Amino acid sequence: MKYALLAGTAAVFSLLAFQPQTHAEDASACTFTKAQDDFEQPDIDKLYECVKDQMKESYGKQGHEIGSIYTTWKVTATGPANPGTHGNRFLLTYANDIAFDEYVKYQDEGNFSMPVGSILAKESYKIDKEGKPRLGPLLIMTKLEAGKAAEYGDWLYSGVNPAGKEFKISQSFCHDCHGLFEDQDSLGYPDFDVRLKAQ
Ligand code: HEC
Repeated sequence: MKYALLAGTAAVFSLLAFQPQTHAEDASACTFTKAQDDFEQPDIDKLYECVKDQMKESYGKQGHEIGSIYTTWKVTATGPANPGTHGNRFLLTYANDIAFDEYVKYQDEGNFSMPVGSILAKESYKIDKEGKPRLGPLLIMTKLEAGKAAEYGDWLYSGVNPAGKEFKISQSFCHDCHGLFEDQDSLGYPDFDVRLKAQ
């Protein structure tokens, strides 16, 4: 008992002692020498720690209606996947309460449609040539009432750039690709490696 208490106290002190040091080292800790394609789980996690708060602040800094609240929603994957050779950005998608349960079934049989009012918001970032994290836009899909945007699967595509401003996009640009996921209500879903297990 006494030892457990002592060990506990020591752990608290070492945490306190460690805190200022990690802050002082932030800049170099967030410079990566490995190529993005070679990232393994610890690198992916470390990079996410570097960008997490920055994204929340950036997308929300102009009070954007989704950019300023999406981090209060649930995350739809265990974490960002390694983009590998398929794309150059790390991605992590949040779902609002209306969307979450349906989305994380990752359905692909074609006979379903996400509930009206579903919102999915996807963070994006990468490593630049200097090995430093670089934020991309927060990409958003909102499910509209049936018939409101039939040619785009009744999805409204939008985004917020890292300055917190509306990211200008063309509905057809986004849907030309998303529409290919025709049995998935136009959803791409996270990489298999990071999907949540059935709950
Ligand atoms: C070249 C194909 C392509 C284009 C173009 C594209 N996306 Fe995606 N999108 C994907 C894929 C693939 C995924 C799933 C990847 C992942 O999350 O790991 C995805 C995921 C998403 C998600 C998370 C929900 C989901 O589908 O699972 C959102 C939100 C999103 N995209 C928004 C957009 C917006 C907004 C645009 C237009 C600016 C856009 N996308 C353009 C392929 C595309």
